[in-house]
Amino acid sequence: MGVEVKVEGLTKSFGSQNIWRDVSLTLPAGEVNALLGPSGTGKSVFLKTLIGLLHPEQGSVIIDGTDITECSAKELYEIRKLFGVLFQDGALFGSMTLYDNIAFPLREHTKKKEDEIRRIVMEKVELVGLAGAEGKLPGEISGGMRKRAGLARALVLDPEIILCDEPDSGLDPVRTAYISQLLIDINAEIDATILIVTHNINIARTIPDNIGMLFRKELVMFGPREQLLTSEQPVVKQFLSGDRFGPIGMSEEKDEAVAAAEAAMQAAGISGGGTKDDFSEIIAQVQPNPGMPVRKAAIRHRANVLAMLPSLPENAQAAIRASIAEEDERAAQSPESVATLVALANTDFSDPAAVQAAQDQADTQVIERPTDVLATAADDAQTQPIDTAAIETAVNQSDGQGSTQA
Ligand SMILES: Nc1ncnc2c1ncn2[C@@H]1O[C@H](COP(=O)(O)OP(=O)(O)OP(=O)(O)O)[C@@H](O)[C@H]1O
Ligand SMILES: [Mg+2]
Repeated sequence: MGVEVKVEGLTKSFGSQNIWRDVSLTLPAGEVNALLGPSGTGKSVFLKTLIGLLHPEQGSVIIDGTDITECSAKELYEIRKLFGVLFQDGALFGSMTLYDNIAFPLREHTKKKEDEIRRIVMEKVELVGLAGAEGKLPGEISGGMRKRAGLARALVLDPEIILCDEPDSGLDPVRTAYISQLLIDINAEIDATILIVTHNINIARTIPDNIGMLFRKELVMFGPREQLLTSEQPVVKQFLSGDRFGPIGMSEEKDEAVAAAEAAMQAAGISGGGTKDDFSEIIAQVQPNPGMPVRKAAIRHRANVLAMLPSLPENAQAAIRASIAEEDERAAQSPESVATLVALANTDFSDPAAVQAAQDQADTQVIERPTDVLATAADDAQTQPIDTAAIETAVNQSDGQGSTQA
């Protein structure tokens, strides 16, 4: 099971510049979390503080019972082995090939032999779609490829905690969808606690169990995804819609005169550039690929959310109830492709023993690696006989009709 990360009263400054203060949140064991916030609010600094690369002035970060803000260097070294980190800039060694970059944590932290290292490295290289590029240097590949190589390196130790700083930056929308799916599949497979820093609203809407947001040196909110997505807070609404009208400015906070001028422009029907999507309408969360194990954290997450439900705002409660009803419906409609939702639908969450039993049952499932799933799908496709007669009939029918539905 993944590891809980408990942050309490954390404050970080560089010299006289305070970045954020009194940040408290818990990344529940094995759940997928996203951290949003305008550029420069200190999301990357937060990630680096979680792994002890930066030192806060106040507060604690408790991982596996150890407060990493005050433990010894030796303890910190051990705790760091639990982490896989994708840094915002990829942080690859420029003079090493992708292969050596990805192999680095294995050579540094394990006694594995080179043939075992090769097996693991090549598996991760394939997982992130970089097969054939492993011999290249970081300077010889695209930004999106560097990002994926960084992710492969973050995954080689099968980490208990995965931190991803903007995994989507530099990636096209389709590759972003693949990487997001990969994170969900990995979560199902190894139950790792995941924190994704992102500006990508699509990711925020469909991937995490919980979402937080940093703004004006504070954690505005952290909770179940439905809570942030249905929030009425102006800063959250502006961020989600990507509109220039609102409390978030280009560099600093907006003053009253600017805010008044914007209100007048809005009243005059001038666009602030944002989408008019209704984010309070919750869309389905991405589920593990068919063949992947049940996502155990989903079971724990639902139990947690149901327990905290009465304390959440009304609209978040309504959105969570609607999400649950929709998930149960999907489980009934397509039981073979949404094992996690089926497990959720079949669990009596009013009975703690039943919740535990559902998790234990998930644990005993056979684990198939995502690459196997893809290979199986490809094999199936190859062995499917092609119905040439049907194609011929369709082509013949379309002759002279000017269009074809074949
Ligand atoms: N090592 C450092 N020394 C001094 N200041 C720093 C350091 N690292 C970051 N900062 C400052 O901390 C602030 C937050 O930076 P950070 O990179 O965490 O922002 P961010 O939220 O990740 O932004 P973005 O979305 O653009 O990546 C910035 O003002 C930055 O200049
Ligand atoms: Mg950053």
